[in-house]
Amino acid sequence: MLLKVEGLHAHYGKSHILHGVDLTVEEASIVSLLGRNGSGRSTTLKTLMGIVPATQGSAKLAGQELTGLRPFEVARAGLGYVPEERLVFPNLTVEENLQMGLQPPRNGGTAWTIEDMYQYFPRLKERRHNKAGTLSGGEQQMLTICRSLLGNPRVLLIDEPTEGLAPKIVEVVMEVILDIKKRGVAVVLVEQKLTIALKVAQKIFVMGHGEIVFEGTPDELRSRPDVRRNWLEVS
Ligand SMILES: Nc1ncnc2c1ncn2[C@@H]1O[C@H](COP(=O)(O)OP(=O)(O)O)[C@@H](O)[C@H]1O
Ligand SMILES: [Mg+2]
Repeated sequence: MLLKVEGLHAHYGKSHILHGVDLTVEEASIVSLLGRNGSGRSTTLKTLMGIVPATQGSAKLAGQELTGLRPFEVARAGLGYVPEERLVFPNLTVEENLQMGLQPPRNGGTAWTIEDMYQYFPRLKERRHNKAGTLSGGEQQMLTICRSLLGNPRVLLIDEPTEGLAPKIVEVVMEVILDIKKRGVAVVLVEQKLTIALKVAQKIFVMGHGEIVFEGTPDELRSRPDVRRNWLEVS
């Protein structure tokens, strides 16, 4: 198991948000973390990255304990992170933003290049000398994903990448996620859209109230209307 999370707890001040999250991610696989708004998906990713401190539990990447590390140390250990809010450096050009992300590949990692990113997203190549702040929301999202990939992570955590994107760009983002997996990088994809998760993931975890309430394959989830009704569909 590449990433193994056991009994992870987290708090915001006195609010107890994560109540013992268990997650496993195999090498070169796509895992989707689903759940309603407020179920704790983003907090799980932030806790893995060390942005929110874990108050209990463990998260091991290829055997290395991540809890207690600071975010840059977690990144160095091999976790990449694409936050929900698109974080670009608005006054740097597209290419400078990409250069900021470059990190040498580590054990088992793939060496991605800026040219790879331009092949995925020709739009970024066209605009490579433009300031990132002038890009559309969708383009900024692509740029954020590319910058994280250039860090050559072993596992990439992506928080709702398709949120607010036009359907055509959603297709491209999904293709890129599938390609990331083909090149040996594992992906933890936080999603709202069940259809997307069912299409790309090998394993699905559903969160409710800060815990994992379902774990299984897409087919197993398809045969559990109760899970969809209780934990996924917004009434
Ligand atoms: N910075 C914060 N301070 C306090 N509470 C927060 C903060 N961020 C999220 N929460 C709360 O934690 C819970 C889980 O939120 P979150 O992890 O963002 O859920 P999701 O990503 O599944 O929508 C929610 O009840 C939310 O209100
Ligand atoms: Mg969220």
